[in-house]
Amino acid sequence: MLVDGKAYHTIWVNERGSVEVIDQRYLPHKFVVEEISSADAMVKAIKEMHVRGAILIGVAGAYGVYLAGRDSRGSGEVFESLVSALKVARPTAVNLSWAVERMLSRVGGPEGRDAESWLLRLREEADRIKSEELLRCKMIGEEGVRIIEDIYDRKKDTVNILTHCNAGWLACVDYGTATAPVYEAHRRGIPVHVWVDETRPRNQGARLTAWELLQQGVPHTVIADNTGGHLMQHGMVDLVIVGADRVSRRGDVANKIGTYLKALSARDNGVPFYVALPTSSFDLSISDGLKEIPIEVRGEEEVKYARGLYDGEVVDVLLCPEASPALNYAFDVTPFYMVTGLITEKGIIAAKEDAIVSVVGGQ
Ligand code: MRU
Repeated sequence: MLVDGKAYHTIWVNERGSVEVIDQRYLPHKFVVEEISSADAMVKAIKEMHVRGAILIGVAGAYGVYLAGRDSRGSGEVFESLVSALKVARPTAVNLSWAVERMLSRVGGPEGRDAESWLLRLREEADRIKSEELLRCKMIGEEGVRIIEDIYDRKKDTVNILTHCNAGWLACVDYGTATAPVYEAHRRGIPVHVWVDETRPRNQGARLTAWELLQQGVPHTVIADNTGGHLMQHGMVDLVIVGADRVSRRGDVANKIGTYLKALSARDNGVPFYVALPTSSFDLSISDGLKEIPIEVRGEEEVKYARGLYDGEVVDVLLCPEASPALNYAFDVTPFYMVTGLITEKGIIAAKEDAIVSVVGGQ
């Protein structure tokens, strides 16, 4: 996608064989590219959300395994401990463990291998995961655009889409998940407008989704998280599209905290609620998402402080009494029965076990 008119991915390998990423902590105020040269640095980048979003975390984890290969200098023990730290850097998005496990199962550790060709295979497998995820997101756009087209054909007026958090290209490699159908509709000339939930506490909607929509010229409006229900009651939302960090076998959806409240409002107001995700975000080992999906609890400072631009500098300001405790669940789970459909690269399917298993099961 475009940044000041220039096409970017969120992650790439540079001429030194190190990984470069867009450091999302400074957006939308500063565009910073970070060079990541070790597996430890990749763990830090994932934990501290220089990179974030389920798909990007997975791809970053894959490149982290490649960096672990470089760092381990042939020691199986060192490689294993670096890879274990990567796998648990963030717990909710299943893409991280999925990508790390795929690297291990397809390439394996250093034992008994020629160091140079092993490292090359690690790098190639990470590149493959990156391109596959990119293609999946593109196809999500091509599948999901049909929903927007149908609404436009009926309404003959701008289609208003509400989204929560950032399930855009910054959360992926390119295109995004929830935003992929929006970008495709915009490309096809269908008039769309996006309601962007600010998404407290880290404001990924206000900071990231708004920025990327602005960069691509897609009409949008940032709203406080509490506004969605009101808009839906007044017919101002035609559909909701969100992303997912993990979807269980029966179709329960873990996504950024607050997603469940949007699903409740959508259900009460008859607004279609879609979840866009690549098949790499399904976890068939889990059925009851409410009981079984691990929910990340992050530091209380993310709730107590807000980040913004002051006098040209990106600063954090305190919002509440310093001594008040805060609680920061990063994700919630929307039950399958509230989901109108799952937009995957293999088609739009019901949030039901048989549909999910038939699409993902063969992988
Ligand atoms: O905590 P984050 O910013 O990694 O959370 C991101 C989300 O919840 C996105 O909606 C999600 O990853 C789905 S799209 C890739």
